[in-house]
Amino acid sequence: MDKHTVLVTGGAGYIGSHACLELLNAGYEVVVIDNLANSKTESIQRVQQITGKPLTFYQADIRDQQTLQSIFSQHSIATVMHFAGLKAVGESCQLPLDYYHNNVYGTLVLAAEMAKAGVRQLVFSSSATVYGESSEVQYSEHFPLGAINPYGRSKAMIEDILRDLAAADKINNNPAPWKIVLLRYFNPIGAHESGMIGEDPNGIPNNLMPYVAQVAIGKLPQLSVFGDDYPTRDGTGVRDYIHVVDLVKGHIKALQALTGAGFQQGGCRAYNLGTGQGYSVLEMVDAFQRVTGKTINYKIAPRRAGDLAECFANPELAAKELDWRAEKNLDDMVTDTWRWQSQNPNGYA
Ligand code: NAD
Ligand code: WQD
Repeated sequence: MDKHTVLVTGGAGYIGSHACLELLNAGYEVVVIDNLANSKTESIQRVQQITGKPLTFYQADIRDQQTLQSIFSQHSIATVMHFAGLKAVGESCQLPLDYYHNNVYGTLVLAAEMAKAGVRQLVFSSSATVYGESSEVQYSEHFPLGAINPYGRSKAMIEDILRDLAAADKINNNPAPWKIVLLRYFNPIGAHESGMIGEDPNGIPNNLMPYVAQVAIGKLPQLSVFGDDYPTRDGTGVRDYIHVVDLVKGHIKALQALTGAGFQQGGCRAYNLGTGQGYSVLEMVDAFQRVTGKTINYKIAPRRAGDLAECFANPELAAKELDWRAEKNLDDMVTDTWRWQSQNPNGYA
């Protein structure tokens, strides 16, 4: 039997590179398209080094319709894992058109080329950021959506488009319907246990863990803790941090579900990928100090606009329907973040 071939968009990036590694290890054939807007080919080299298996890489933009067409004609792609996108919340407020063009239009071009090529299995990188304000802090998939910035809205729009695609199949009685899984990530952190691939942010990191890691290695002088007056156990923001390797294992489970009996009629379903456990900023700093023996210099700073006090996943639907649960704990996340950061103080450069 032919191997199942997966097209990974954004496969050179942080989560995509870990997905490529896991797919190769699980015996899938991997084709990557990435325009390197936020990544380097070194990640792809290292994935091949770690696994001892080759993959096919195209440096191209998903908005380049002709390249996509040629990829679908040259490879017998069974499923697309769609990671490609811009992801910085603050930047999305300054450059909304870039975000909608890249993320929303990019997905439109991709989906149209998939349909033309008869490829209708898709796993999409959504985000917990699509959820609206809620009085409950543990988010379930049926909670109302209501993103509050252009990045989040681009993800919510893509979710709508993909749900509409699956709904159209029902009206049209499409005999080969779309099978789509939307994965809503909470806060992915950590790195592969080899320490060879990890998150390599451009410039000053926006997110907590890469910032803490750069303070620990001496590249940044001090962490600003954004607010200590939230209604949480120690006043700092609480999030659901999830190890990137657990996260990508959830993608493999999603891919298996798409090809299984539960999806025979097609459809579009959303799943949270989180641990279900929240940690505060100060708990993360403490864990980092305890596990690495490094002192993290920090100060309390004003709240960051747009931040929630507390947010974590209800991960039960993914457990029930995808047979997936996060397995790694906070110490694993910190240990692996630090191994990557200390072995690669300048990232892939
Ligand atoms: P990343 O920036 O490391 O990876 C994204 C990759 O996509 C990069 O390699 C980039 O070069 C590529 N890319 C961007 N636009 C492209 C285009 N038009 N054509 C081809 N390639 C393009 O980000 P990541 O953290 O690995 O995130 C992957 C996906 O997961 C993104 O869609 C992101 O929005 C989503 N997500 C990330 C997080 C997070 O905290 N990291 C949380 C929720 C959702
Ligand atoms: C975590 C906590 C901050 C930096 C973002 C996106 C979200 C998703 C994941 C893509 C918060 C605090 C942070 C710092 C701090 N990405 N913090 N000092 O904001 O939960 O989620 O990344 O989809 O869409 O919004 O993650 O890591 O930025 O913040 O005190 O220097 O750390 O206030 O409480 P966030 P984060």
